[in-house]
Amino acid sequence: MKTAIHVVGSGVVGSAFGLVLDGLGHDVRFVDTSSERRAILRSQGQVVSESLQLQDEQEAVVFLTLPTPSTKDGYDLRWLEQGTRSVGASIRATNAKVIVANRSTVYPGACDTLIRPWLEESSGKSAGVDFEVASVPEFLRQASALEDAARPWITVIGSSSDHARAKLADLLRPLGGCLRVFDNATTAETIKIANNCYNAAKISFWNELWTICDHLGLMSDDVAESVAISAEGSFNPTYGIRGGFPFGGACLPKDLDGLIAFSESVGLDVPLLQAVRAVNDEISRRSFALEDQAQATSLAAS
Ligand SMILES: NC(=O)c1ccc[n+]([C@@H]2O[C@H](COP(=O)([O-])OP(=O)(O)OC[C@H]3O[C@@H](n4cnc5c(N)ncnc54)[C@H](O)[C@@H]3O)[C@@H](O)[C@H]2O)c1
Repeated sequence: MKTAIHVVGSGVVGSAFGLVLDGLGHDVRFVDTSSERRAILRSQGQVVSESLQLQDEQEAVVFLTLPTPSTKDGYDLRWLEQGTRSVGASIRATNAKVIVANRSTVYPGACDTLIRPWLEESSGKSAGVDFEVASVPEFLRQASALEDAARPWITVIGSSSDHARAKLADLLRPLGGCLRVFDNATTAETIKIANNCYNAAKISFWNELWTICDHLGLMSDDVAESVAISAEGSFNPTYGIRGGFPFGGACLPKDLDGLIAFSESVGLDVPLLQAVRAVNDEISRRSFALEDQAQATSLAAS
């Protein structure tokens, strides 16, 4: 039995991802509310419609690739809700075995607390019994969307359903790259958002260092590229990523204090470096408090 792949939301992500699956020989059908998007995909020979139809299917995977633009209050999930509820209405009208896999970027926990209830309400059916839900976040870059979709460096799948995890892994493994599969959607959602925040923090760090290099009349690229080769975080991917422990030792606190003091002495603001120190101070305070608590408990017990 051939599983139909439906892509709901056929913009940058949906069209790139769907075209890649189509190229691998899958039965891909696009859905988009925009007539312009539908016309573009139709002109490329794709099957595309305004709404999802599942009545004739026995088995289907529905990917949600809907807009989730951010506002200063967080993500605007209106399009995601509307699109998800329309998928739920299609699930109501079919006996097909359906996996709904969200690729839109969302808050950690959105699959379990929003997408799943939206689908249950609109379908009148139960997740985990009548259909399954998963998170498969997208990591492609807009400027190279098709190339990245065809050769993802990482694919992350999260679902509490064994069947959904296995099915999605079989579908996406042929694309290559690192495949990481988790037994819950929230881990996958958190990986996506943390990935972008990590990239953002890295860029802001080097912009802050650029202001210091600029002050010193140095080429910041010489500094950044050398550090990117030499710092342990570059050649040891697990360095510094275990949460809950502050950094210490002879060099890290000393050199951080040194660079902050130097920057301040020449009138440069270094809020990110100060934040690095503040986070470490807070984690140290909490670790010591926990140690004191453990010591007090063991003294009381002896
Ligand atoms: N663009 C990127 O580089 C990128 C990378 C990674 C993740 N993402 C995430 O992927 C998601 C999609 O982003 P995008 O860039 O493809 O957005 P996009 O705006 O290019 O495409 C979204 C498409 O969804 C359609 N749509 C809106 N409501 C619909 C509905 N109810 N039913 C069917 N179609 C509907 C729109 O017409 C549009 O064509 C977002 O959550 C985004 O954050 C984007």
